Formats: sequence, structure tokens, C-alpha cells
Amino acid sequence: MKKYLTHQTALLFTCSMLLVACGKSGSNDANSANNPNAIPIGIAFAQTSNVALLGQEGTDGVKIAEKYFNNKGGINGRPIKLVYQDTSGDEVGAINAFQTLISKDKVVGIIGPTLSQQAFSADPVAERNQVPVIGASNTAKGIPEIGDYVARVSSSVAVVAPYSVKAALKQNPKIKRVAVFYAQNDAFNKSETEIFQKTVKNLGLDLVTVQKFQTTDTDFQAQASDAINLKPDLVIISGLAVDGGNLVKQLRELGYKGIIVGGNGFNTSHIFSVCRALCDGVIVAQAYSPVYPSEINTAFRKAYLEQYHREPPQVSAQAFTALQVYVEALQSLDKKNNINKFKLPQLRAELNKELLTKNFQTPLGEIAFTPVGDVIQKEFYVAQLKMEPNGINGKFSFLSIK
Ligand code: ALA
Repeated sequence: MKKYLTHQTALLFTCSMLLVACGKSGSNDANSANNPNAIPIGIAFAQTSNVALLGQEGTDGVKIAEKYFNNKGGINGRPIKLVYQDTSGDEVGAINAFQTLISKDKVVGIIGPTLSQQAFSADPVAERNQVPVIGASNTAKGIPEIGDYVARVSSSVAVVAPYSVKAALKQNPKIKRVAVFYAQNDAFNKSETEIFQKTVKNLGLDLVTVQKFQTTDTDFQAQASDAINLKPDLVIISGLAVDGGNLVKQLRELGYKGIIVGGNGFNTSHIFSVCRALCDGVIVAQAYSPVYPSEINTAFRKAYLEQYHREPPQVSAQAFTALQVYVEALQSLDKKNNINKFKLPQLRAELNKELLTKNFQTPLGEIAFTPVGDVIQKEFYVAQLKMEPNGINGKFSFLSIK
């Protein structure tokens, strides 16, 4: 017995001294949470509040990535470990989560927060502390410009939104009159509606009304009736899943029969349970396709399908990608300069520089960053919601936009 214990102790000692050798054995994934030498990466997504479902999609993506990259040997043998702090749905929650991750959990970088509205308050905290942040779902204009340490893998609304309007015109070339709705209390939706309104004008369409609401609203009868009275052929909505879904439902109940385009807030299957059968036909642009042909997307999709029995949504793919960026930047940094020798502030600074200079083959396709930290991505898509007759299950059916 004593001999056995001695052997175990010696093995543990050897593993902590020779991380490379032990990590490469492939056993590091299971042990990463308790491994004192694992590299901590902070995950600041909403686990509670009205955006918890979107936060969950982010968490699903990083969990798959953590397992995937640790099984491949982590950072040249050293595992990564994810440290989670709930941002909830508001700015204060995001600031608190960032502060805890930076000062208590001592993470090398942060992925999050869930909303752009939160990022405008929390990212400056990371910037002041010189801690890299990668947004995985922040799509408002101006996010990377918050600071040198702020980047994102979630393409801006400015790039993505116009695709869905063009797809609507392809389905109905007679569209002329457009009604736009947006949530005025949310940074990303305010930013997205500007792009939608500009796209409508650039395409020579008539913007017949702009209706405002709040992400906390549940009753849209007044705005929906006002818009319907103006006989639009197309309705475009910038809102989050619950308010946006309820608005779709009420527009249909009040008799609107034309095409509906939803913004990025609609890009989650959680909307199905809100507007149910009435979600059918809503068009949403996509920065990710589950069938994008690449080795890493095939691996990501397979892992996701095995676990959740449905196609991976955009935000899960973006969250996987954000963690991939940290892992591959740490790997290449470590090859140039043994990262074990860096103190935390230096590691954070070097990691930030490294990730901005690299190209990554991700589930989103090949990506890189502009000098300010915005994602450079090549592939975009448009999908249409197809609800099953039971009105409970649905899927995003990808359209041809060529
Ligand atoms: N795309 C949404 C935002 O940026 C979630 O807030």
C-alpha cells in the first residue's frame, strides 16, 4: 500500500513538473478543471435573465471546444480550463463577471459578454486591465473600437444584415413598401436597424414606417396595427428572441401576410417556442453554416449533434471559434517563447498581439482580424425558419443566395 501511494505521489509530482509529457498522454481533458497548471480562460456569458438561452448557446460552443482542443494536447501539452462567471442580462452583471475573472480567477483572456449592450460597459474594464476580450456574439457597430484588447469573431451587423433583405427580394421581387421595427433600448438592435434602414433605401425601396419597442415589451398591438395600416410588403425586425418572436406572432395574428426578415437576435432556435407555427417563413442572415466543408467544422458539428441532437446554431459556432483563437494564439506564442516563463500581465499582452496577427481555419471558415480586432470572414448565408406542423419544432433551412 505504501509503495503504491509513493508511486502515485511520484507520478503526480512528475506530471506537474513535466506538463508537456503528461498532457500529451491525452488524459488532460478530464483533469483540466482540477489541474493547477491548466491555463484559465474566462467565459462571461449570461446564465440567468432573459438572454440566458443565448448565453447557453455560447456555453455549449466553448464546452465542445475545450474538450476538442484538450484532447489534441491543449497548449503544446498544457491543458486549458474554462472559468465561468454569469453576466446575467445587464451591464452591471457583465462588469462584475469581468472583474471577478480578471482579479480573482486570473484568466489570460475573456470570451463574452453575451450582448453588445453589456460589452460597451464591461469591455472597457478588460481594456483598463490589459486583458484580451473576444466577443462571440457581439454584433453592434463599434465593439472592436472599444479598445486595443477587444476583438470579436461575431461579424458586424453592417456586414451580415443586408444579405437577408436581398434574399427577401429574391423571393418576392415585387416588394416595395417596407416597415421596420427595432428595440430602442438595446445597442445592437439600434445599430442593426440603421443598417437595415440604409439597405432598404439603397435598394430603392420605400421605408413606410419605423416602429420602436423595448426588449422587455410583450404587447406589440399598437405598433403592429400602425404598420399594417400602411400596407407593407416586407417587415424587418431588430429585436431579441423573446420580444422579436412575440412581435412576429402578433403581426401574423393581426393579419400581416408578407415576408418578415428578422435580425441577428432571431438567430436562435429558442425563438421557436415563442412564435411557434407563426415563426414559419421568417428570413434570417447567418454567419455560420453547419454544412461548411472543413475538417474542423465537421468535427465541431459531429460533437454538437452527438450531444444535442440538432444542428449547431451560429452563436455556438462563434463561441467555439473564439476559444480556438485563444488556443491557437497561445500555441504559436508558446512555440516562439515558452509561455511558462511569462508573468500573467505579460502573457495577456503577448496573447493579445499574437491573436491579431494570425489566420485561423475555423467552423466559420478562414478568419483573421483587422488591426482594430474586427473579424475578417468570407462566407455568409441566409436561412428561412421552417416550422413542423406541430408548431413546436423547427429548423433553419438555408437558402441559395448566389
Ligand atoms: N448579437 C446580439 C448583440 O450583439 C446578441 O447584442
